[in-house]
Amino acid sequence: MSLLITNIKELLQVRETNVTIVKGKDMKILPTLKNAYVFIEHDTIVEYGSMEDCNNIEADEVIDATGKIVLPTWCDSHTHIVYAGDRTQEFVDRINGLSYEDIANRGGGILNSAETLQNTSEDDLYNQASKRLTEVIKLGTGAIEVKSGYGLTIEAELKMLRVIKRLKHNFPISIKPTLLAAHALPKAFKDDKKGFIDLVVNEMIPAVAKDNLADYIDVFCEKGYFNLEDTERVLKAGIEHGMTPKIHVNQFNAFGGVALGVKYNALSVDHLEELNSVDITALQQSNTIAVALPSCSYFLSIPYTPGRAIIDAGLPLALATDYNPGSTPSGNMNFVVSTACIKMKLTPEEAINAATINGAYAMGISNLYGSICRGKKANLIITKKLPSYYHLPYAFGDNAIETVIINGEKF
Ligand code: NIG
Ligand code: FE
Repeated sequence: MSLLITNIKELLQVRETNVTIVKGKDMKILPTLKNAYVFIEHDTIVEYGSMEDCNNIEADEVIDATGKIVLPTWCDSHTHIVYAGDRTQEFVDRINGLSYEDIANRGGGILNSAETLQNTSEDDLYNQASKRLTEVIKLGTGAIEVKSGYGLTIEAELKMLRVIKRLKHNFPISIKPTLLAAHALPKAFKDDKKGFIDLVVNEMIPAVAKDNLADYIDVFCEKGYFNLEDTERVLKAGIEHGMTPKIHVNQFNAFGGVALGVKYNALSVDHLEELNSVDITALQQSNTIAVALPSCSYFLSIPYTPGRAIIDAGLPLALATDYNPGSTPSGNMNFVVSTACIKMKLTPEEAINAATINGAYAMGISNLYGSICRGKKANLIITKKLPSYYHLPYAFGDNAIETVIINGEKF
């Protein structure tokens, strides 16, 4: 099978093979070809260039993209799309004045989702998650990370991770599984946090590793959840079992979690709504990427991650959705890109870099995803006719996408 896309008004994010991350000032540059073509064979981009050089290419199918923009699909490096039910009542409770913390303190929040998930069959959980995944692919997501963390027992965590594995098997996009072992303290361990961490370290992580169900190890490092000592124990055990850290830090409080992540070579540190100069310095001495989740800030009305300060410090930044039932019931990367421009003051170029190549880096897959590059996966967004790519973030809430190509085929 071959596919030729012709007359592309703007082809965005055209990069050489060796570019796997962009940092600091370089994030302002989005390499773009005007009046371009892309030629795909099977699931791979084999050639691209200016229309003037598009001669003698025979393809099984041709898409005329006159007036349209083509870019790599979004790389969403932080989600919790495998969950059961919803938390609409908590949404209304927050409108009526309760805070996210108040709700968690009275036994709602993550514990609420865990109870629902424990009582949901594996097939039902798969069906709910696969519906969400289908929707986000239609919104342009072509690679995604998915966490466990709503199980809170070994059995339920394994159930979540098996559902992620089944999604991976049945869907054409790249799916990276993460064990979010310590997400909240289960009710059964209310007065025994050490006992729960012992369970995670001695039983849960080994069981998950035995079945090879997770590439990454995550912890919710936050006041009222897991402290630095708990986080360190879980990260060490994960690393011993071949998992790379990728952690939730600084959502509500900054107390050294970023430096701890860096110490254990975390691939990414995510959230960072609260960020201080010590955190920035730690990141400057690392290969760890900062991941901002602006839809979470929007939904919970909490501060936005200081993306401007992160980029201005010469660091790389990635953007992701955090799709989950409690803090971000949305998996729309287009909204994330708009919100990063509008609320975090990223330029459109910075936001698109953060949501494509840097998102791929934050999942360890930027050798194959996140840019238009010979040899990379043919995962592309073709927009409707647009005046320029500025309209992607500018016309927030619009669906500018006409076609999503995954592995060289229309999804
Ligand atoms: O990334 N902060 C921790 N975990 C999720 C939300 C969990 C929930 O409320 O269900 C997050 O925001
Ligand atoms: Fe999250």
